[in-house]
Amino acid sequence: MFSSETYIDRRKRLAEQVQSGVVLIMGNDESPMNYPDNTYEFRQDSSFLYFFGLDSPGLVGLIDIDEGKEIIFGDDITIDDVIWMGPQPKLSDRGQAVGITETAGLDRLAETLAGAKQGGRKVHFLPQYRGDNIVNLHRLLSIPAARINDNVSVELIKAVVEQRSVKSPEEVEELESAVDICHAMQTAAMQACQPGLVEREVSGLMAGLVAGRGSMLSFPTIFTTHGETLHNHYHGNVMQAGDIIINDSGAESALHYAGDITRTIPVSGKFTDRQKDIYMIVLNSQTAAMNAMLPGVPFREIHLLAGEILASGLKDLGLMKGDVKQAVAAGAHALFFQCGLGHMIGLDVHDMEGLGEDYVGYTDMIKRNGQFGLCSLRLGRQLRVGFAVTVEPGLYFIPQLIDLWKAEKKFDEYIDYNEVEKFRDFGGIRLEDDVLVTEGGCRILGKAIPRTIEEVEAACLAS
Ligand code: GLY
Repeated sequence: MFSSETYIDRRKRLAEQVQSGVVLIMGNDESPMNYPDNTYEFRQDSSFLYFFGLDSPGLVGLIDIDEGKEIIFGDDITIDDVIWMGPQPKLSDRGQAVGITETAGLDRLAETLAGAKQGGRKVHFLPQYRGDNIVNLHRLLSIPAARINDNVSVELIKAVVEQRSVKSPEEVEELESAVDICHAMQTAAMQACQPGLVEREVSGLMAGLVAGRGSMLSFPTIFTTHGETLHNHYHGNVMQAGDIIINDSGAESALHYAGDITRTIPVSGKFTDRQKDIYMIVLNSQTAAMNAMLPGVPFREIHLLAGEILASGLKDLGLMKGDVKQAVAAGAHALFFQCGLGHMIGLDVHDMEGLGEDYVGYTDMIKRNGQFGLCSLRLGRQLRVGFAVTVEPGLYFIPQLIDLWKAEKKFDEYIDYNEVEKFRDFGGIRLEDDVLVTEGGCRILGKAIPRTIEEVEAACLAS
């Protein structure tokens, strides 16, 4: 974990911003797979990690702003736990490591909260995504379980988002170390891909590599010859010569900061000319987007710029026509780019998404646009120094969407459907890097991962 000062300072700033009441940050519990003692790998809640640092189940953090108290609630392990799981430090000792001097058993939490409520003080809590914590809050606060997420504290959400959005130098180091694991994953995959292998043989190789480093995946790996499906988690296709693979994968750093990198890999080690054409359009779009990023510029503008580069390249290939800016403003390019250009990244791969995507990615001035394509853009707001963001343009040829739009003659002033038909079995290409917004623009985080056609082909052939 970071030094205790980091956590003390984070909690102090949070208390200053929320100003009054009691802040309750729920840690996660173990999550059973098929019976209580057979659990998924434990993953702590990211806001709990951010403010209270302790990476183990069964903990709740409380900041009593009015009384200036900070407490971690949790139960010390019993002799039975020691027998099955080995000795563990006492909670009071673990609390010291994150600057907490007061700890208490979970049985004390209800009375503490009842006292605060009786005193007419607000109990602030964040949106919950785990059923057990919804039930816990229902019990603790006497709010119906189905209404817990209607009673969250918007002040607390906004304060947490404000703080977690800007990454400190020590957080940037963590993000870089996560990307360094992604480097190993991507280059291993490039070397391993070959005709005849099943996708899962390579996705499994990456998972093993991550586990071997004591890390965990930051999200379920997308490794597919059907990259036109944006979040394709099926890994059962046999790779054929001439196929391209979208490898969208990532791992967490030791302190759970996420890496999220996508590369497109030719199975036989060389791209065809047609694949190179599409690849270059995506690469140019990504480069232009990164070159245009600056503090103060809304990421939505960068998304639209990336869309214009994609549309312009498609126009050069004859798939789109007409005025590129108008086509993108109308949303015609979303036939090929149905999603957003990127999202914040941090302790969550879609950072803070559980707190509400619009609180994270939008503001009162820049609201989410409902147009197809743009509506999936997770981040629209102005960039700030210290934001960590993914930049991930792509071109996706989805036969069902092509058929639908063609039948509707949708945007046929901008799309040449006869030419598009020639690409209906193309699949998809995506390139994604994690970048840090700096005073002068942005920089790619972590060790450089092969990105150009030449670099990717060379990495495929290296073994
Ligand atoms: N890279 C996976 C995702 O952004 O959801």
